[in-house]
Amino acid sequence: METVFPFGLPFATGFYLFFYVLTLVIHVAFMNYVLAGCGWIAIVRPRAGNDTRSESTRILKDWLPLMLSGAITAGIAPLLFVQILYKREYYTANLLLFNRWMAILPILIVGFYSLYLLKSYWLKSRANWIIAVISSVPFVCVAFTGYSWTENHLLSVRDTNYWSEFYATRSQVYSESQLIPRLLVWAFGSIPTMCLILAWQHWYRGNGRPALLAKVALVGLLLVSGAAIGYHEVTSDTVNAAFVSTLAIPYFVIAILGLVLQVAGWVWLLRQKQFSFTGLVVTSVGLAFTLVGMTVCREAVRIHTLGKERFESLYPVHEEAFGRGGFLVFLAFFVINAGLIGLCFWLVRTKTLPVADAQHGASIKSL
Ligand code: HEM
Repeated sequence: METVFPFGLPFATGFYLFFYVLTLVIHVAFMNYVLAGCGWIAIVRPRAGNDTRSESTRILKDWLPLMLSGAITAGIAPLLFVQILYKREYYTANLLLFNRWMAILPILIVGFYSLYLLKSYWLKSRANWIIAVISSVPFVCVAFTGYSWTENHLLSVRDTNYWSEFYATRSQVYSESQLIPRLLVWAFGSIPTMCLILAWQHWYRGNGRPALLAKVALVGLLLVSGAAIGYHEVTSDTVNAAFVSTLAIPYFVIAILGLVLQVAGWVWLLRQKQFSFTGLVVTSVGLAFTLVGMTVCREAVRIHTLGKERFESLYPVHEEAFGRGGFLVFLAFFVINAGLIGLCFWLVRTKTLPVADAQHGASIKSL
């Protein structure tokens, strides 16, 4: 805890923490697209024309089912690592929340199929209010899942005495003052990621103008900064100290640098007539800095909240898990599954692009 993440830790702990953070960042990228994308679908009604707003809505409707599958699949790897790293904490929170926690499974299924319903011809011929209600179902389901993860996470870092008292109340809903500000950081933070991935999709198709997405992304960055200040205000000194601890400070700086790069990238894109490759690369580097930086800071907050003694007591569990075999089997399945996921992306891309856009894509690839 006295050195920069992931150094200075026993090898097994550092190894699991490193891959936990790395895989969580991938989950967060997908999850952000899905959360903000479903929010967009719930609010924005497409128009008949081909303006950026309508085209963005069409792209989102096409891609959201796949991206939701991506978010769920990408959640599995950090889920496995978190169970090794914080076995007792994670399972205790799961068991205390019990049915409330398990509700994310049916809710995600409803959200997943409602995204397909949005693409159906059946829905297009319904009354406007029916379309509006069904369009908001995916967002409600995905937002509920995000809320559940935050609730579970916050309960998992409480101590044994608190867990006992919570169990005695028979409640399956957990709340504390930092829950809402923390959720708002996640919710607003998802907007710039969604805008950027969507911007790359426009760039690939060679359509759309950057102004709308740039404005939405900048509003998202403003809102997430406000929510982060609110989070800072309501959390304890321990949480705030974690951000500037030796473990996390370089990552905190990187996250802020990423924020600055994103603002610069979007402001520049705002003035362009079309999505420029350079502008998108700069903004993407900024986003990657912010996502990695904040994910490490999030981990530093957990480690500080648990405290040195409690965190160090977990080392032998990590060591024991590391001694188990199976790495080659894991690698084999990793390659097979990565190939299958790649195939799914290829299928969605080739099935949804109109001919002219596909030609544009092909000409880009041949550059
Ligand atoms: C698409 C719906 C989902 C959304 C919106 C979502 C959102 C979130 C959020 C907001 C967090 C961070 C919680 C916090 O730090 O306060 C999180 C963490 C996480 N999510 Fe997801 N998630 C989704 C689905 C899933 C699924 C299906 C899985 C597993 C297969 C998963 C695995 C994880 C893991 C392992 C963590 C880290 C938990 C921890 O460190 O305590 N997520 N998710």
